[in-house]
Amino acid sequence: MEKVGVLVVSYGARGVAMIDAIHRSLEYETKIYVVDRQRNPLSSRLAVEHVVVEDLNVNEITRFVARRQNKIDFGIVGPEKPIISGLRDAMEKETSIPLICPTKRFAIEGSKVTQRNLFAQSVPSANPRYRVFDPTEIKNREKTKQKVYAWLTELGNKAVVKPDAPAAGKGVGVWGDHFNNKKELFDHFLANLRFGKVIIEEKLDGEESSFQSICDGKNLVRLPETRDYKRAFEDDKGPNTGGMGSYKGVDELLPFLKREDQEEELAIVNRIFKDLRKKADANELRGVPFYTAFIHTSDGPKILENNSRAGDPEILNILPLIKDDFTNICYKVLEGNLTRINFHKKASVAVYKVPPSYGGYQETYREKVAIEEINTPLNLKRADLLENRTRGKIRVFPASVELRDRRLYPLTSRSVAVVAIGDTIAQARELAFEGVDAIEGGALWSRRDIAHKNHIHGSVTHMDRLRRKKIGSD
Ligand code: AMP
Ligand code: GLY
Repeated sequence: MEKVGVLVVSYGARGVAMIDAIHRSLEYETKIYVVDRQRNPLSSRLAVEHVVVEDLNVNEITRFVARRQNKIDFGIVGPEKPIISGLRDAMEKETSIPLICPTKRFAIEGSKVTQRNLFAQSVPSANPRYRVFDPTEIKNREKTKQKVYAWLTELGNKAVVKPDAPAAGKGVGVWGDHFNNKKELFDHFLANLRFGKVIIEEKLDGEESSFQSICDGKNLVRLPETRDYKRAFEDDKGPNTGGMGSYKGVDELLPFLKREDQEEELAIVNRIFKDLRKKADANELRGVPFYTAFIHTSDGPKILENNSRAGDPEILNILPLIKDDFTNICYKVLEGNLTRINFHKKASVAVYKVPPSYGGYQETYREKVAIEEINTPLNLKRADLLENRTRGKIRVFPASVELRDRRLYPLTSRSVAVVAIGDTIAQARELAFEGVDAIEGGALWSRRDIAHKNHIHGSVTHMDRLRRKKIGSD
């Protein structure tokens, strides 16, 4: 069997799922070199070498790889920070190791303003109405307030405030959810304006879906659709998070989407891709240049944001269901001949278990937090046994946790993801929560309505209402 050395730059369950997919290769003997933000128990077990670079600093990662050039054949990058900081560019300059991720100038999530301006050019009808406020151009608070209030009046107050720089969805505030009057919105706006430009855009009414695709530079291969749960609490309440869980249907569609919706999404992404390719050198876009969050409105799909990396948790729904050898897919990406990916016809549900400090849970639900449990180490033994017993139908991916003195402690972000596979979404969901409930310690909690039939039914009826509205206005 051919030996292959693979670098994985990892953070969170997304990186772990990539390591797992590469480790499961049946066509190659994979030797995995991991650069991680912390000592992850699963990644360090599956790797031949596992190093911690806390800030995923580009120079340090490049130095690590440069010293192992004869062992590493290629690399893949999970989190956005090193992509935005130009890891691919640095790696190509200093080493001969090809990376699967776009170059810095195509890491378009680096600036939400740049994104909106790009979409305004390439796909204006998929862009909500927006206005950019630049702190360097703002002289006077009163005048700014007048401008913001005037724009809010134009939008009928239904507005979303977004910082320019990525904040894993967390700096985003939505009218009706995070503020109920102009003053509250303005306070949120000012708090973000201290850090740079801020967008105020039209609040859209619709159902969200996550489009992901893998690209070899020339071809975009679409992955099945998934639905993320961005809000911290049940019924889509509370602050935005990195994503509390996600689901995928049996085929590539979601229960509330129609084939035409998906085709429209693809047409939108392809238009952006075509425009970006005009500016790109041969393979600069290779990787996952389009993880695009869509919202399906009565006026068709609109883009909420775009990322040049895989979605977390959304990619967890996908990687375990790929029929082809993932390492082989990586080679096709590098060779520029990826035209198709085959999937098992199964549903999957991913659920994150997170610490009490995450998403403001502890402040909101003090009575539910078992204080005496907060500092207890995590115990994944029962969950891992379930993984073995179900032969991988339940998978456990430790994320923001750290192995210290052979004990596992949650850090501040999402702690452990459980992904389950089933013949239906309901079956996958039941297994996922079996896994979630088998994780002990740390007073971790989860959103319990992820992929619940009532939530899905709500999405279907909401979408039906929006479609009727569309027909009414045609
Ligand atoms: P983002 O980081 O831009 O994806 O925003 C995080 C979350 O805020 C999204 O998943 C939506 O739930 C919500 N959101 C963002 N932009 C809008 C918008 N224009 N209209 C309605 N909701 C939005
Ligand atoms: N699930 C949201 C993200 O990956 O940004």
